[in-house]
Amino acid sequence: MERTKILVTGGAGYIGSHAVVELYEAGFQPVIVDDFSNSQEQAVRGIEEILGVRVPCHRIDCGDVEALRAVFAEEGSLRGVIHFAASKAVGESVQQPLKYYRNNLGSLLALLTVMQEFGVPHLVFSSSCTVYGIPDQLPVTEQTPTKPATSPYGNTKKICEDIITDVVKAPESTVRAILLRYFNPIGAHASAKIGELPLGVPQNLIPYVTQTAAGIREKLTINGDTYDTPDGTNIRDYVHVVDLAKAHVVAVQRLLDVRGEAVEVFNVGTGRGNSVLEVVHAFEQATGQKLNYVIGPPRTGDVPAIYADVTKATEVLGFRTTTSLEEALASAWKWQQSLVSE
Ligand code: UD1
Repeated sequence: MERTKILVTGGAGYIGSHAVVELYEAGFQPVIVDDFSNSQEQAVRGIEEILGVRVPCHRIDCGDVEALRAVFAEEGSLRGVIHFAASKAVGESVQQPLKYYRNNLGSLLALLTVMQEFGVPHLVFSSSCTVYGIPDQLPVTEQTPTKPATSPYGNTKKICEDIITDVVKAPESTVRAILLRYFNPIGAHASAKIGELPLGVPQNLIPYVTQTAAGIREKLTINGDTYDTPDGTNIRDYVHVVDLAKAHVVAVQRLLDVRGEAVEVFNVGTGRGNSVLEVVHAFEQATGQKLNYVIGPPRTGDVPAIYADVTKATEVLGFRTTTSLEEALASAWKWQQSLVSE
């Protein structure tokens, strides 16, 4: 039987590459689109080694309408799109807001335009818990009011959600969408053939932790320990990237099977909050590595604490996480070691 084709923009990126693997293993035919501005060919090789097959990959900028049209025309019969391609560094977005608005909004507008032209009916969008801003209550549900984000990056996620909602609700719309609000993705594929590949100094916690343990960075600086949390450090919901990738497969499946609402929103996390210090200790426990760290000042724009209520994803999508924090951290460490030994 012919596999259902799903376009994966940003398919060579961190979450995208894991989603490509899970899509293929669930019986879909993923097609990658990536401009490799913040990803590497190595990810595509890793995917192909895991799957033992070639995966179609188009090197284009997703904001380029003409180039997208050519891909849609060449591939034909696409049934859906998962849109990961975006710039994602919070700090950089404060320095270069225009880049973020141009890349993140431009690629979505181009994609929706071409999806409509070609009658491709299903979209899964990578959103973020950043849309909740600093929430008044924890955990956050999908009904928790969204708030102005603390960065241009966060704003682009909220604006993209609004654009998609307006477009799919339009009377003539042929597109339906699922918005997945990710919490903090961590870890790597069990094979250690794909994982997070930060360019330059990592901004996110886990790659900084693994690079410190590997001796690439001298020490981790914990961004403040005077927050109103049990140990004073920030609380996040760290979800294993393979669990997160699987949420995309069930979201695509739902769009294909159920003629539901035009747009649905789901939190994707574990439902657990862990502090930065807990993560550090869990990493030491899981890997036997001693981590050199110091406490530094709070990072501007950081949300003190956020974690997900995942009842809706569990009940509606059948989404379940299967990986503990320790297992996720061990997988991140295995991936880091595979990079060092290359
Ligand atoms: C943020 C956004 C998330 C976005 C992501 C993209 C929120 C709540 N989350 O994640 O939506 O997709 O950026 O990158 O706004 N930390 C340290 N030392 C370090 C690095 C990080 O202590 O060297 C701490 C941070 O202060 C934070 C935690 O680790 O408390 C996680 O940080 P990070 O991995 O950067 O993710 P978020 O900022 O939570």
